[in-house]
Amino acid sequence: MTEPVATNIVRAEGHVDGSARAANFGHESYTVWFTGLSGSGKSTLAFALERALIEKGVASYVLDGDNVRFGLNRDLGFAPEDRTENIRRIGEVCRLFQDAGMVVLTAFISPYTADRDQVRALHPEGKFIEVFVDTPIEVCEARDVKGLYAKARAGEIGQFSGISAPYEAPKNPEITVDTSNPLEECVAEIVNALGL
Ligand code: ADX
Repeated sequence: MTEPVATNIVRAEGHVDGSARAANFGHESYTVWFTGLSGSGKSTLAFALERALIEKGVASYVLDGDNVRFGLNRDLGFAPEDRTENIRRIGEVCRLFQDAGMVVLTAFISPYTADRDQVRALHPEGKFIEVFVDTPIEVCEARDVKGLYAKARAGEIGQFSGISAPYEAPKNPEITVDTSNPLEECVAEIVNALGL
């Protein structure tokens, strides 16, 4: 992990830890990290899971790739180093949410294994749950919800994940979702796996 640019900084310690904050919410806290191609269903799953968790009284929140690129990460594009920085910042935000006692759900392509592993390394053991949204590229491209695959094939969008930029599928995700199953089934499977 890279050292901070600032020198003469010292970590300040609070009086409660993450588990005390989570206990106040009455449930465990996690970062649930969805990864998969554009159009694989990450956002749909994350938002459906958020609704299911909120209905159960679980304090949850979704960080979504497109949304975050309108704000916090508005200075980043899709070059490999920009994607790495995108995931680094989001990873830090997730760790803050998780340490605050909440369940944070993310929907980013996050195409590089090394970047996802860095986010995992920020978290305590067992608190980072990688969910591979395993929708084949043929299915994502056939759906083409945002019309981006057509543009990528026509060369109008460069560095498009799965077409002209890499996507490294996770080798050992905690959960793999087969999105050919009904949405509610996928959500229930994740809720059960989390024990929430
Ligand atoms: S990531 O690779 O850095 O994790 P992120 O999830 O934030 O990507 O953003 C992906 C979204 O940006 C896609 O769902 C799509 O809507 C849009 N997008 C625009 N250009 C590209 C591109 N070249 N590659 C992938 N997604 C793109």
